[in-house]
Amino acid sequence: MADDPKNASRAQWDRAAPGWNAHGALIGTWLARATEAMLSMAGIGPGSRVLDVAAGAGEQTLMIARRVGPSGSVLATDLSPAILALAKDNAQSAGVSNVQFQVADGEDLQVEPASFDAVVCRLGLMLFGDPLRGLAEMHRALRLGGHVCTMVFSQPQHNPCITILMSTALQHAGLPAPNPGAPGGLLSLGRPGLTDELFAAAGFQDVATTQLNAPFRMPSAKTYLDFVRTSASPIQQILDRLDEPSRERAWAEMEEKLSVYATPWGWEGPNELLLTAGRR
Ligand SMILES: C[S@@+](CC[C@H](N)C(=O)[O-])C[C@H]1O[C@@H](n2cnc3c(N)ncnc32)[C@H](O)[C@@H]1O
Repeated sequence: MADDPKNASRAQWDRAAPGWNAHGALIGTWLARATEAMLSMAGIGPGSRVLDVAAGAGEQTLMIARRVGPSGSVLATDLSPAILALAKDNAQSAGVSNVQFQVADGEDLQVEPASFDAVVCRLGLMLFGDPLRGLAEMHRALRLGGHVCTMVFSQPQHNPCITILMSTALQHAGLPAPNPGAPGGLLSLGRPGLTDELFAAAGFQDVATTQLNAPFRMPSAKTYLDFVRTSASPIQQILDRLDEPSRERAWAEMEEKLSVYATPWGWEGPNELLLTAGRR
């Protein structure tokens, strides 16, 4: 069971859950503009019934809950029970009562067919082993005319920090150079046109993708790396096979390489996102 990729991913995200949650405010600032755009592209407004796939600690879930208001509802789903438990705590602390939570694999959503007006998935779809299956599940969950919008990372050259993290981690782990297109990888859906093809294959109409610049602004490369060390499950997964001193050497090399993005006013890591929308 432990070598099943799905179980490994769940276990890793259970472990990264506290780190991802602790950086919620930072993630919120980084993705604020892109998330507003995603919710608009999914047609989410007062009264909408929304499915949030791979919801994580629920930072975007709370934004959706506020947008749909008391007459709307949100179902937040995620593969990791630990991260979803934190999303539930966050909703309770925020006094938000129109959100339900359900542990669910995005490739096998256990939801009523045609029961949602909108589906969103923020930085989750690229982690799916079979993203087309995930999109088919979203399609099934939507009512006729309902909208979907997903957010994923774009191409490697526009996301050099991720490329640095991945290639350094793989090199230290003695693994082959990264293949950005390999299923489940952080940059696996970045090829231009790929998300559109997958959306169309899943049965969506009016498919369109928008590129969005979302630089990661932090005080220093070290603070960015602190975020990655505690929250970035795919990188942790690679480094897990190393002993402690070797792992520390890998982190130190990443920090050194990432410091090229230092500016006089702080650290700014280039980052590009793809928002893909479609209609059932
Ligand atoms: C990068 S985090 C994004 C979380 C949240 N959407 C956000 O933007 O803050 C990726 C999330 O995808 C979830 N995930 C990974 N594979 C999944 C799958 N097959 N089904 C559902 N969730 C999955 C992880 O558990 C994790 O919470």
